[in-house]
Amino acid sequence: MTRKAALITGGSRGIGAAIAERLAAAGWDLTISARGAETLESTAARLRAAGGRVEVVPADMTDEAAIAGLIEAHTTAYGRCDALVVNAGMGVMGSVADFPVRRFDKLYQVNVRAPFLLMQGMLPTLRATAGDRGAAKVIAISSITAVYPEPNLTAYGATKAALASMCETFNLEESVRGVSATSICPGYVDTDMSEWTKGAIPADEMIAGADVAAIAYAVTELGRYAVLPQAVLTRPGDNLHRA
Ligand SMILES: NC(=O)c1ccc[n+]([C@@H]2O[C@H](COP(=O)([O-])OP(=O)(O)OC[C@H]3O[C@@H](n4cnc5c(N)ncnc54)[C@H](OP(=O)(O)O)[C@@H]3O)[C@@H](O)[C@H]2O)c1
Repeated sequence: MTRKAALITGGSRGIGAAIAERLAAAGWDLTISARGAETLESTAARLRAAGGRVEVVPADMTDEAAIAGLIEAHTTAYGRCDALVVNAGMGVMGSVADFPVRRFDKLYQVNVRAPFLLMQGMLPTLRATAGDRGAAKVIAISSITAVYPEPNLTAYGATKAALASMCETFNLEESVRGVSATSICPGYVDTDMSEWTKGAIPADEMIAGADVAAIAYAVTELGRYAVLPQAVLTRPGDNLHRA
């Protein structure tokens, strides 16, 4: 049987690494990417223990040439892509009143422009993998701030809403060819990114990376005729629909 292959950005730690672990355990081959080569290599060594192939491609999502290199490396290695996971992202807090515009630009580069370039550049391979009867999935790690506003996350929330919107339009254009996109929109997940707020919200009361990975894996199990545009994952109680 042909082994499935996924390309995961931000796959070295946090949510990306959790998705990589879930797919590796299910027998997938992987390409994982991030900036830091050392963490990527140690994560890859862990993933290879599940028995699959793992390609490591360091790339900065602000660097268009590096993104093109990542697309080329994955396609050359596997010649197929059953799941493109656009997960690498950055978070910056700040009010509209004094948010520096250069930070706004960098947020857009990493959280929106890079996913667009990846969706565009991987499209021929995604379409070919889906073929006439199969399916290929784009899984975009957005945020609950894409759907429900959160104070001081204007710029971040706008990038995540843009990412979710890209998935919706992508589905209008591509889902008839068997390639569909899902934005996953979680509240706080226990990773390095949420470290700053763990004094107020205990890490073990946050969503686990494995929870996000469970949704991502379920999406890869959907067939050609099942499109899940968005999955919102929120915390319980009063925190419902809040980050
Ligand atoms: N944690 C949360 O509460 C939460 C909630 C909702 C959504 N999200 C979203 O989930 C995604 C993953 O976040 P996380 O919580 O797993 O964060 P994380 O633990 O900080 O991991 C981020 C990953 O992205 C990579 N990365 C960051 N900037 C990059 C860049 N410029 N170019 C290439 N790779 C880059 C990191 O590796 P390097 O630093 O080595 O590049 C790392 O692998 C993000 O899109 C985030 O916005 C997070």
